[in-house]
Parts: sequence; C-alpha cells; structure tokens
Amino acid sequence: MDVVGVKPGRVAEASGGRFVTFEGPEGAGKTTQIARLRARLESDGQSVLVTREPGGTPLGGALRSLMLDTGQIPLAPIAQALLMSADRAQHVASVIRPALQAGTVVISDRYVDSLYAYQGFGDGVDLASLKAISLLATDGLLPDLTILLDLEPSLGLARKRQAHEKGVSELNTMDRRPIEFHQRVRGGFKELAVADPTRFVVLDATAPAGILATRIWRSVEAMIRVR
Ligand code: TYD
Repeated sequence: MDVVGVKPGRVAEASGGRFVTFEGPEGAGKTTQIARLRARLESDGQSVLVTREPGGTPLGGALRSLMLDTGQIPLAPIAQALLMSADRAQHVASVIRPALQAGTVVISDRYVDSLYAYQGFGDGVDLASLKAISLLATDGLLPDLTILLDLEPSLGLARKRQAHEKGVSELNTMDRRPIEFHQRVRGGFKELAVADPTRFVVLDATAPAGILATRIWRSVEAMIRVR
C-alpha cells in the first residue's frame, strides 16, 4: 500500500516557520537529541517550540493516559488510530500551525508517521484509511524534515527497561507489546523513509549522542537555510 505516494503540500514552507519531526522505535533517544537540537537552534537565533504526540495539548494529555497508561481498557487498533488522530487534529490546529505561522521552528516528538508505523504496519490497520484520516486530521500538513532514529527494537526496549528499573521512567502499554510488533513498526518506519527520501533522514541511533547531534544539525541547518 502506497501510503506515502500522496504528498500534500509542505504547508510550513508557505508560512515562514519550519516543521521538524523525530520518529523511531522505542528507546531510540529522541528526547536527548531533541533537547540538543533545540539548544543549537536557539543559539543560532531561531525561535523554537518543542512539542510531542500524543500529548501536546490538554486534550492530548487526557487521550495519552487513556491510550498508554497501564491498567486502562485495551483499545481496538482502529479506536487507537482514531484517538491518536483526534490528538493530532487538536495539536495541529491549536499548537503546530499557529507556531509555524508565527515563524517558529516546531519540533515534534512523533507525528503522523508514528500512526502509519504503529497502527498501520504494527497493528495492521488499513494504510489507505489511515492516510485518509490523517489528511483530515492534519489538513495536509507534513513536516519539512523527519529525522528517523533507527535501531533494533530489542536494544531500545532494553534501554527503556533499564530506565524503568532505575525509576527514571514508566513502561507504557506500547512498551509492553511483543517484540514482533516492534519489529513490524521498525520495518514500517524504514519503508516510509524509502518512499519519501526528500523528507526523511535516517540515522543509526546506536551512534554516540554527540555524533548523532552533529548529523542532525547538518540536515536541519540545510533545511533552514533554504527559504
Ligand atoms: P512515549 O512514552 O511518548 O514513547 P516514546 O518515547 O517512544 O515516543 O509513547 C508514545 C507511544 O505512542 C509510542 O509507543 C508510539 C505510540 N504512538 C502510536 O502508536 N501512534 C501514534 O500516532 C503516535 C503519535 C504514537
């Protein structure tokens, strides 16, 4: 299924801001790299907004705990896809688009590619339907640049489990899914990247953090300079 065959306009380009998303399997180190990128952009004089999905709005916070907290009612994959998309619709309308229109660089920890990878490739929800829902939810807003931090899911999940054991973070319902699910998710991300090579930059998430940060900056800087 060619989800990525349809490429709605990069709305950010028309509005002055820039839209960067980070994607990847669990435990890829997105949080660390996003913090480094924010600092670098700010020292370059850019106005930056860091946000995330699910959970970048008050509605998203409530949906996030319904969808991901352990002990919640297990959701049917389609219900999950619709809730993720409701979160995204609110996020785009009330946070992302206004910031882009104000000329801000918006960095989102996950966006629509996570829907395709997790609910589509991972859980088998029809990709054409996900694409249609996403066009409605985002009004066609796609990132200018998507950084895919790729790694073998068992490594990422081990990182997350270690953090959990140290009391640094919780394991959510996704983290507890079988490894085969996470492998389908990873494969899905890679397929999405191959299908849209001008938007995606795929990086090996096992590289040292400093080297990764330099690689990410190179891509972001090039994207920002092209006005
Ligand atoms: P989070 O704790 O933010 O994990 P991570 O640090 O890996 O981003 O949990 C978000 C989870 O939600 C993550 O497992 C991916 C999943 N997700 C979807 O299944 N569909 C989506 O559309 C999005 C945005 C996230």
